[in-house]
Amino acid sequence: MALRTSPEVSGMGHAMKRKEDPRFIRGKGNYVDDLQLPGMLYLDIVRSPFAHAKITRIDSAKALAVPGVLAVITGETLAQYNLHWMPTLMSDTQMVLPVEKVMYQAQEVAAVLATSRYAAADGAAAVEVQYEALPVVVDPKKALEPGAPVLRTDKKDKKDNHIWHWEWGDRAATDRAIAEADVTVKQDIYIPRVHVASIETCGCVAHFDKVNEKLTVWMTTQAPHAIRTVFALVAGHVGLAEHKIRIISPDIGGGFGGKVPVYPGYVIAVAASVLTGKPVKWIEDRMENLQADSFARDYHISAEPGARKDGTLTALRIKTIADHGYTDAAANPSKFPAGLFHVCTGSYDLKAAHVEVDGVYTNKPPGGIAYRCSFRVTEAVHTIERMADLMAHELGMDPADFRLKNFVKPEQFPYKSALGWEYDSGNYAGALQKAMEQIGYAELKREQADKRARGDLMGIGISSFTEIVGAGPSKHFDILGLKMFDSCEIRIHPTGKAIARFGTKSQGQGHETTYAQILAEELGIPAKDIQIEEGDTDTAPYGLGTYASRSTPTAGAAAAVAARKIQDKARKIAAHLLEAAEGDLVWEPGKFSVKGAPDKSKTIQEIAFAAYTNHPQGMEAGLEAVSYYDPPNLTYPFGSYICVVDIDRGTGEVKVRRFVAIDDCGNIINPMIVQGQIHGGLTMGLAPALYEEISYDEIGNVQGGSFIDYLVPTAVETPKWETGHTVTPSPHHPLGAKGVGESATVGAPAAIANAVVDALWHLGVRHVDIPITPPKVWKLLRDHGVMAE
Ligand code: CDP
Repeated sequence: MALRTSPEVSGMGHAMKRKEDPRFIRGKGNYVDDLQLPGMLYLDIVRSPFAHAKITRIDSAKALAVPGVLAVITGETLAQYNLHWMPTLMSDTQMVLPVEKVMYQAQEVAAVLATSRYAAADGAAAVEVQYEALPVVVDPKKALEPGAPVLRTDKKDKKDNHIWHWEWGDRAATDRAIAEADVTVKQDIYIPRVHVASIETCGCVAHFDKVNEKLTVWMTTQAPHAIRTVFALVAGHVGLAEHKIRIISPDIGGGFGGKVPVYPGYVIAVAASVLTGKPVKWIEDRMENLQADSFARDYHISAEPGARKDGTLTALRIKTIADHGYTDAAANPSKFPAGLFHVCTGSYDLKAAHVEVDGVYTNKPPGGIAYRCSFRVTEAVHTIERMADLMAHELGMDPADFRLKNFVKPEQFPYKSALGWEYDSGNYAGALQKAMEQIGYAELKREQADKRARGDLMGIGISSFTEIVGAGPSKHFDILGLKMFDSCEIRIHPTGKAIARFGTKSQGQGHETTYAQILAEELGIPAKDIQIEEGDTDTAPYGLGTYASRSTPTAGAAAAVAARKIQDKARKIAAHLLEAAEGDLVWEPGKFSVKGAPDKSKTIQEIAFAAYTNHPQGMEAGLEAVSYYDPPNLTYPFGSYICVVDIDRGTGEVKVRRFVAIDDCGNIINPMIVQGQIHGGLTMGLAPALYEEISYDEIGNVQGGSFIDYLVPTAVETPKWETGHTVTPSPHHPLGAKGVGESATVGAPAAIANAVVDALWHLGVRHVDIPITPPKVWKLLRDHGVMAE
């Protein structure tokens, strides 16, 4: 997109430095844990060592004897106010604190309130809890077997561990197409449980002002308005009305979906503050964060595509078991219990598809959050991209040629997928061809053949993903009934500077910069003169928050629409000032001039001043606008990634030698920020591909509960990312932009997994589940007799 504004104005397309960084890089960000209020109390939580156990006794005596400890809060305490259970985002129920039994290791059992953080921790260690162990179910397949212990005994009529069955697509047509296919391949794929592991853990400061009966909660939430409404709905019976609740999301150190749910700690802190009238702080430590907060993924998938001999994909059938832990606390739009998993036909023109998902209870933490992912799209992309590779190899076709043959073609857009989505735009072949050129695909193929002849293990993997972001058109998307639009409110001050507030909330994505750039593009006011605010429910317009790369498609669009309303009023004022007809005025960013007389003009700053000092008779003073934007469709960013790996035949280590990522997010607001999003996203894709997993032993002990076991990649493991882009604007977004935040996390794991399988295919290896750790590969090398001596 050609630049329309000067670097001074920094509208769309300028690589403007981030406005928020001076405070972040100087350590001057304001995070929840930075907040200190007079008389503040501290909360710490007692957690269960058992994955499934009856609580027979909680003895608080020793804890209450710890100096500084004021109270021990249990499920019984909360039950007096009917606050011991709360609804989940998927309309299931979740314990705040248990009354009868615990359902996973590290579950909250009691909370200790004290005058200092240390006293609270000592108090928590002194609470004595007696448990009676119950049979544990960690494997969702076993959880579905007849005779498996029924976990949700709180649900009267529940006789098994099955939560829901959901299916989508044409089953008969798909079965028929697969039966008629020349070639089919079937593969079980496990996408393991992982955690967002953001730098900042979760926490809050709850302050109930008894005099004004107002609750203010500073909390690590990606969706402050929705939280305010949920609090009012859940705690209305104890006097918390929505106008008396203020949620403030201050600076957030990474959210990635993990800061969407309501965790018990928040609710207990609020209850403790309401009861004491004092501010109460609760901040998780790292292990609590990893062990107890909502997980992501944990999908057991069985996928089966069919194709003709000539390489045409014809159908896709998928069955999935979704392990939700002890309650379904996934963050999905209400209508779709498996999120947007049914975008699993990906970038390919498949005529028939059918997908089934069964949700299952196990003794694990709840969740199913959209970890840097638009509601299960990562699972969908990993599946289709693994299956595309498998099918290509099975047919003896080059995986790039196979993809180029089967891609939805540019002229087919808007494209209706077999599973009902309307893809807005795309040029998949363009992105793949650019990636192939950039990496030197043909040369790499030759190198691989030479190396293979010498016994070296080198693999090339492709992932050509399609994303689906910007939930959403409110006719399809709501969370707990709240429609998924988003908002922007702009006020231009008399001197031409501005403030704009949004219903979203940045967690590091740079909204203070990019939203200002959108407004600079639309109004010609320099981005540096526009203050952006998010995250305070008392001041910002209502919105559904930031997750699933929805900010640009929804709030970014709202910013453009609100700015255009301002431009309309500015035109009237300019006509009045210039004594010209509105129709005779020409707009260029920052200025109206008279057609044919360019020196007769008024700048946006002059117009803003007039809006308060010299506006036309009968017109309201001021220059303000608000937009609640309900997108007509989602946006469909896409990309093609190519990864080259070398496998160490001695250790089984996979080394990512090169990784080229070509992304397309339509028109780009800030190329530097987009590149940063891609770099971070790729690293978050490398992580589950090679390192990260939270697993459990057979009695439910968590195996990835600290950074000793949960291997977050550092700069040492991270390869040099080689990025590039194509631009295919969204036809329905006012700026032609699509979201980008999660593309790389969604697309990267399959490229790496495909490269590893490609390196081992000639040995008979057809699939390796992620994370592809050295022991896994070492075992494969040993089993196939190719270990280095
Ligand atoms: O909702 P979230 O902010 O996580 O995701 P996003 O809308 O994909 O945006 C991530 C960051 O990239 C924001 O600062 C966007 O404004 C920026 N972006 C951009 O500069 N150009 C685009 N076409 C898309 C996003």
